[in-house]
Amino acid sequence: MTGHDPAKDIAENHREFARLEARGRSPSYEALAEAVADDPVILRFLSSLPPEKRQPNLLFATARYLLGAPAQIAQLRDLASQAGAELAEQMRIRRTQTNEPARCTAMLPALAQLPPPLALIEVGASAGLTLLVDRYSYDYAGHRITGSDPRAPTLRCTPRGPVPLPAQVPHVIWRAGLDINPLDVASDADVQWLTCLLWPGEGDREERLAAAIATARRDPPAVHRGDLLDDLPALAARAPAEATLVVYHTSVLGYVTPDKRRQFAGLVRDLAAVWLSNENPGLVPDAPAPPYDGTPSLLARDGRIPLAFADSHGTWLHWLV
Ligand SMILES: C[S@@+](CC[C@H](N)C(=O)[O-])C[C@H]1O[C@@H](n2cnc3c(N)ncnc32)[C@H](O)[C@@H]1O
Repeated sequence: MTGHDPAKDIAENHREFARLEARGRSPSYEALAEAVADDPVILRFLSSLPPEKRQPNLLFATARYLLGAPAQIAQLRDLASQAGAELAEQMRIRRTQTNEPARCTAMLPALAQLPPPLALIEVGASAGLTLLVDRYSYDYAGHRITGSDPRAPTLRCTPRGPVPLPAQVPHVIWRAGLDINPLDVASDADVQWLTCLLWPGEGDREERLAAAIATARRDPPAVHRGDLLDDLPALAARAPAEATLVVYHTSVLGYVTPDKRRQFAGLVRDLAAVWLSNENPGLVPDAPAPPYDGTPSLLARDGRIPLAFADSHGTWLHWLV
């Protein structure tokens, strides 16, 4: 009988990352992931880590953190073979917490449809950059919306379908993030890690991140340490009663087990809140996911109503209803 070979799964995972995630966005990470899939030294190194620590994103960001620049395959192999203990240690303590402000381009039209004023809770908020939805300005292929902070970056997005583009940003009177490991925009080390999580070759993403961090540093949003299941009700109870409470999240449910996702869905449905999820189709339990080509995120309301498909990095938004 042959035993299960984790290196085969890891190789396949890296090929999938190359094909489905990096292709068309980051040619160098597409090539790097393909090369890792054929590299027995790196695959053996990754097999020694817990399964949740074998992600390409985490490996590449940690290598960038240690090397000071995005890795080439030879450097990655050297790290795995000559500095494997340090690489493994860093991968164990770090998480993929990419905080992409441009994901606000999907939330904005949905938030602007709700009765103001709004109270926002973002679950899995990382450094809180996606909590600043009203501070950024927007440009949806020429439809411009001015945010409340004139120095904040303008987020660009190509709208498709009947996107209900608002004339202005919504009025937010209270906001709070919740994260199992909040990152601090005031910490240079946390900012460095956020930067390492970006992929090389993705246009202006680095400048956008830097501008969003500067915006957050002028008036930092509160991101509380806590678990999306255990700590959400207490945080929701602190929201002002006169506001429409919105609980939202983007690219978070993939990090928790299916059982926990189910419990979370039940919990949010029981809160007196509007629930906006922006996750890979299938991750919100029982939410209908219309067919779509590619691997975008699905924006849904209350876990029941699909609103739009969105690029996972916010560059386009295809409204459905
Ligand atoms: C990929 S980041 C997304 C950050 C942000 N939502 C965005 O779209 O830019 C996922 C975040 O979810 C957080 N997270 C994962 N599991 C969590 C849990 N059980 N409770 C709270 N936050 C969690 C991680 O720490 C991380 O900051």
